[in-house]
Amino acid sequence: MTDRIRDYLRARRDLGLDEGPVMVLDLDVVRDNFSAFARALPDTRVFYAVKANPAPEVLSLLAEMGSCFDTASVAEMQMVLAAGAAADRISYGNTIKKERDIVRALKLGVRLFAIDCQGEADKILSATAQAEVEAGEVQVFCRILCDGAGADWPLSRKFGCEPEMAVNVLEHAHRAGLQAYGVSFHVGSQQANTEAWDGALASASMIFRECALRGIGLSMVNLGGGFPTKYLKQVPGVETYGDAIFRALTKHFGNQIPETIIEPGRGMVGNAGMIEAEVVLVSKKSEAEDEVRWVYLDIGKFGGLAETMDESIRYAIRTDHDEDRMAPCVVAGPTCDSVDVLYEKNHYPLPVSLAIGDKVWIDGAGAYTTTYAAVAFNGFPPLEQIVI
Ligand SMILES: Cc1ncc(COP(=O)(O)O)c(C=O)c1O
Repeated sequence: MTDRIRDYLRARRDLGLDEGPVMVLDLDVVRDNFSAFARALPDTRVFYAVKANPAPEVLSLLAEMGSCFDTASVAEMQMVLAAGAAADRISYGNTIKKERDIVRALKLGVRLFAIDCQGEADKILSATAQAEVEAGEVQVFCRILCDGAGADWPLSRKFGCEPEMAVNVLEHAHRAGLQAYGVSFHVGSQQANTEAWDGALASASMIFRECALRGIGLSMVNLGGGFPTKYLKQVPGVETYGDAIFRALTKHFGNQIPETIIEPGRGMVGNAGMIEAEVVLVSKKSEAEDEVRWVYLDIGKFGGLAETMDESIRYAIRTDHDEDRMAPCVVAGPTCDSVDVLYEKNHYPLPVSLAIGDKVWIDGAGAYTTTYAAVAFNGFPPLEQIVI
């Protein structure tokens, strides 16, 4: 917790405004994170993944600092434009787009698009005609599959195609008159292995060579996100990732290193946010002495902690009693839904003195929390966010 967050929460409590859970986000941390990315990967353009946290204050700060933006929808593009960044700093990074949304994006001035099959390239081509944009002005990059090994939140087979197929997809786009610009991948979110980029870069260089043989000059590799934030476990610093990525780029591209971009989401905002929540109930399921305690918080899977699904993300939960004896607990949310349990397979150690009404603090909550919160499931309001 930063001093600014601590002071803000104290003032909020003094005013009696600490009614429900809140996520407080410290912009100074986001500023430091952006600078750290720029230092660690100096020749790489940063496209902040807006989905991680689209708070207007975050977008304005990053726009001011020179960031570009990876967007998943037209709504996200509009937020970025409203924050003061021009359309030439926006990519439409979702491989699954409606044609009419592509038309809207083109009309907004966006010219950089992700694809992972020929059908998506065809939609873009058709959209260019409707938006009256020259096809040759539009840059497309093809996303390739990544197994996500080493990531706490792998992105599965939903996005991307096999590298061999990417060559044909890019050739198809090129023949259709679009600019075949490059290759993208995502090594899986919260990626603990700094070497995870190596295999994907080997595939990317193969695609560059194959395309060159077909007369298509690719120029860009989009290295995606995956840069971790600190939850319970320690993670390597961003400079270690920068070094490993530079080594892999040199290994696979020699002295012809392509233009690169990164799309950090979690690594940009995760450690900037902290949730303050409250213990609603502490109980047991039987009176046996060694029965595990259930600790119910006023925040759960539907209130912003969706990434506890399958216990993938293990947040650091702190209390005012952390000096006391700890005992394993099941941690659950407040709704009447049985899946609203955060940690049960792997019990979570919490102080035995933790009681109803106590506050708890959840660190590393700046990414993928507020926008995952349900609007009114069980009548609970979505997670409030305060940006300071
Ligand atoms: C296309 C794309 N880029 C970047 C990101 C951000 O990834 P991370 O939060 O791991 O940095 C995501 C996350 O889902 C994504 O889908």
